[in-house]
Amino acid sequence: MSEAFPDTFGKAFMAYYRGEKVSIIVRRDDDLVDEDSLEGYFRGYDDWFEVERKALQHVRGRVLDVGCGAGRNLLWLQEKGFTVTGVDVSPTAVEVARLRGARDCRIMDAKDLRLPPGSFETVIMMGNNFGIAGGVEPTKKMLRDLYRVTTEDGLIIATSRDPLDTDNPRHLAYHERNRQRGQPPGLVTIRLEFRGEIGPWFDLLLATPKEMSEIAEASGWHMEEVYRDETERWRGLYAAVLVKKN
Ligand SMILES: C[S@@+](CC[C@H](N)C(=O)[O-])C[C@H]1O[C@@H](n2cnc3c(N)ncnc32)[C@H](O)[C@@H]1O
Repeated sequence: MSEAFPDTFGKAFMAYYRGEKVSIIVRRDDDLVDEDSLEGYFRGYDDWFEVERKALQHVRGRVLDVGCGAGRNLLWLQEKGFTVTGVDVSPTAVEVARLRGARDCRIMDAKDLRLPPGSFETVIMMGNNFGIAGGVEPTKKMLRDLYRVTTEDGLIIATSRDPLDTDNPRHLAYHERNRQRGQPPGLVTIRLEFRGEIGPWFDLLLATPKEMSEIAEASGWHMEEVYRDETERWRGLYAAVLVKKN
């Protein structure tokens, strides 16, 4: 398991799965704190973000769910008749997804994908998982690996949140700090805290659609479609469809 990602998420998923009312703390390194009730990771199709539902209409063939978590997308696709492989770095998340019915769910780091070439037509990366590799270069490497494990007509469906679509002074100051360090504005360093257990810091890239497109182009992919969330609550959230360049 990646050192940068202990099982905090998985343990919280398990507690929620067992019916406990839990939440995790997501702390950014400027001490901005967000509380996540985990409910979103267990929602059914009707309660997903509209951008997710729209983008997932593009799914075809065998599917790889990268960072599948508790398996909400994987389980729905399975029900629709797709053959889905879920991978997650968290062993307990994988256990929860299996308990919920996932037929093929494996412990695997998205930064070290050990899968045969040409195995999947579609890759999905939901819940801001476009950015799970961290910085720009690790993300390009992950996309190049995904190029290898997909078929010639492969596609990636990924969500992220445009960090610039905000007027929150805390976020604007954080972006400025990143720029001064020569980093993308939305490269956030965060850690998860659950029931007194404190995970280590790790990087998550929140990419603007332009950044996602540039990273994709540099790694063998082309951004074909972008669905943006129009609600105030989820300002900046979007889902993109990346198609393989041949
Ligand atoms: C925000 S949750 C999203 C879960 C799911 N995709 C969803 O939308 O409900 C992020 C998930 O990605 C997993 N994850 C984070 N870094 C990962 C990595 N490097 N490789 C594989 N999984 C990772 C976490 O363990 C967690 O289950």
